[in-house]
Amino acid sequence: MQIPLINLKTQYEAIRAEVNKKTLDVLSSANYILSDNVKAFEKEFRNYLGVEHSISVANGTDALVIALKALGIGDGDEVITSTYTFFATAESISSVGAIPVFVDVRRDTFNIDTDRIEEKITSKTRAIMPVHIFGQSADMDKINEIAREYNLKVIEDACQAVGGEYKGKKIGTLGDIACFSFFPTKNLSCAGDGGIIVTNNDELATICKGLRTHGSGENGRKAYNLLENIIEDVEEDNNADNTVYNPLKYYNYLIGYNSRLDELQAAILRVKLPYLDIWNEKRRECAQYYNMNLAGTDFVTPYESDFTRHVYHLYMLQSERREEVVQYLKDRGIATGIYYPVPLHLQKVYASLGYKPGDMPNAEYLSYRTFAIPMFAELTLKEKEYIVRALKRFGEEYEKE
Ligand SMILES: Cc1ncc(COP(=O)(O)O)c(C=O)c1O
Repeated sequence: MQIPLINLKTQYEAIRAEVNKKTLDVLSSANYILSDNVKAFEKEFRNYLGVEHSISVANGTDALVIALKALGIGDGDEVITSTYTFFATAESISSVGAIPVFVDVRRDTFNIDTDRIEEKITSKTRAIMPVHIFGQSADMDKINEIAREYNLKVIEDACQAVGGEYKGKKIGTLGDIACFSFFPTKNLSCAGDGGIIVTNNDELATICKGLRTHGSGENGRKAYNLLENIIEDVEEDNNADNTVYNPLKYYNYLIGYNSRLDELQAAILRVKLPYLDIWNEKRRECAQYYNMNLAGTDFVTPYESDFTRHVYHLYMLQSERREEVVQYLKDRGIATGIYYPVPLHLQKVYASLGYKPGDMPNAEYLSYRTFAIPMFAELTLKEKEYIVRALKRFGEEYEKE
């Protein structure tokens, strides 16, 4: 049996007719940029989360970069974040000229250790960027409390956690601004790259809209006015780019980005969004199955804190014999993934920041023990049984040695 980490084909097969129809409709319409599907998806997504504004962009990394820029974060500013995350989290901070300041994670949730945030705050700190890693929320009450006390902004990196919850509230509604990715492996994904920024702050939303299209047109002008404290009546340009020729787009007010969600991707996301909660529930059932059936083995199963609704973007196990178990599973056709082999404070690219091994003991401990096993809504019982059986057998053979 061959079992991938995530099977995008089975998901596509289940919704093929709808996806094909909607993509063909876009092709026939010949409206490819910021048109009806983008606007409708933005609305549907903000209704799903219950937020005021949603600004779709080209990918999750751009979402983070644009959110940071909209907050006015740049050269020499410091942003506190987790060291145990995908590189894009810190990369976005560096991209705007700011410095990522890494904090260790908790061994149980893999999320930023909120007891270690305050010691990293300096006069240059402008924001905290918690990551809801693997689909489970960071402890947002504590983070918001610290942010309030030190007058910092909170940017949620929600790229792995669409549909997850914290104390009954949706991830993405818990800070000043939040960013999601729709990369194909994500719980809600498109057929390529995509991302979205959400916020309840009118001004931040306006600036994000201006920045995603080269700081141009009426939206660019409104964004510029907000950043420069200029009071002027400017209408929002709701047709920002959806015509082949929009004269307003040749007037630029800010250095921005070309970062739009494609109309085709928006059409696909509109098909998938109504299934998101069902798919996440199936992921949770799958996690429960693994938890129950691996109880009593040497594998450490993921911890779900009682104030979160984990959506298991990834299901992480821990083992002292990771390399052997990964090979054992590979030999039996079961894919695994190692997230993350090198915590960000030890990445070569950040050598100049001066961190050294031992600085973040929990992340370093996890980085040589964790591995993901297949997790997706369409995993069959047969496949789950096969995976659990292989893991148990590995344990038995290991005990014999
Ligand atoms: C935690 C985290 N942040 C940011 C990103 C960046 O998203 P994207 O790949 O869409 O640019 C990802 C996803 O890949 C991620 O997992």
